Amino acid sequence: MAEGNRRQVLAGAAALGAAGLASAAAAGQRPADARTAGPIAPGRDTKLAGKVAFVTGAARGIGRAIAVELAANGADVAIFDIAGPVSPASNAKPATPADLAETQRQIEATGRRCLSIKGDIRKIAQLRAAHDRVLKELGRIDIVVADAAIQRWKELLEMEDADWYDTIDNNVNGTANTVRAFAPTLCGQKSGRFILLSSMQGKHGTGGASSYSASKHAIVGLMKSAAEEFGKYGVTVNCILPGLVDTALTRYPARWSHLLGETQDNPPKNPSEAETWNNRAPRVPLKVAWLQPEDISPMAVFLASDASAMCSGANFEVTGGDSAQDV
Ligand SMILES: NC(=O)c1ccc[n+]([C@@H]2O[C@H](COP(=O)([O-])OP(=O)(O)OC[C@H]3O[C@@H](n4cnc5c(N)ncnc54)[C@H](O)[C@@H]3O)[C@@H](O)[C@H]2O)c1
Repeated sequence: MAEGNRRQVLAGAAALGAAGLASAAAAGQRPADARTAGPIAPGRDTKLAGKVAFVTGAARGIGRAIAVELAANGADVAIFDIAGPVSPASNAKPATPADLAETQRQIEATGRRCLSIKGDIRKIAQLRAAHDRVLKELGRIDIVVADAAIQRWKELLEMEDADWYDTIDNNVNGTANTVRAFAPTLCGQKSGRFILLSSMQGKHGTGGASSYSASKHAIVGLMKSAAEEFGKYGVTVNCILPGLVDTALTRYPARWSHLLGETQDNPPKNPSEAETWNNRAPRVPLKVAWLQPEDISPMAVFLASDASAMCSGANFEVTGGDSAQDV
């Protein structure tokens, strides 16, 4: 649409309200409802009432924050997590059934319904069964968040086979399984949101964590391909790219040592949390060494909302300003 035309329609819409919008649509000057974020309305970027979400990796960390924040904004939420060991090729200590139960407690404290499912994203049959339970027990599905992942810190020259294969299998195949298990329903109903967790390490290389970095690049490729395919059904697919976030994935001295190694040779092997914070925070534009999971989840709410209808195939970075140092 020519810029003049677009201005005319926007001005007309403001002056005429809903009736004006309908007649403009009838005249073919505006897209159908499912292909627009619609008129400006207070809070439209956070309204999720009546929607149902499915979140993998929701036992703790960023997945929990997203699940609870979706609920706090009105969605019923199904949570899915292995809540146990994933692979020896994972640096984080395993999540537990108590972690998953705590996420459920926090969701229910918002007044929303929660369906808790223990399962493994590497098993597509378990995701398909979870999909069926969500439809049966929560009645519908609108939003799918693929958050579950593991991370391996190991230099290429030192890698065992599992350090590569397990990370790629879990993060890439597991995320693709999540998309493939839910896509037939979302595309069939001609509406829905896929939100995949990549990382800034899915944009650039990560010395010492190549299998993780490669898996997060692959998730961006999956997201962009799915966005190409699902757009015709009105289904959006996007990635959130967090910067460094304080979770079990990152909270241990060896990881802090790696952060200190960004600015010094031979960093201490067991630095304190305070030492690491004081080294890194001045280097980040918003002066935090790491973000909190609750800093990431508002982006998921926006991407889940009707207001994001015209966002698809894109990376959304939440990094405390680290993005400024990236192309
Ligand atoms: N923490 C960060 O700094 C950071 C930065 C960028 C991106 N991310 C991404 O955000 C997401 C969440 O990370 P986090 O920091 O909250 O990690 P986390 O380890 O705290 O949580 C990950 C959750 O995923 C679950 N999980 C892993 N593999 C699974 C499987 N096969 N089946 C089911 N559940 C499984 C774990 O049990 C755990 O509860 C990940 O995709 C991660 O790569 C994290």
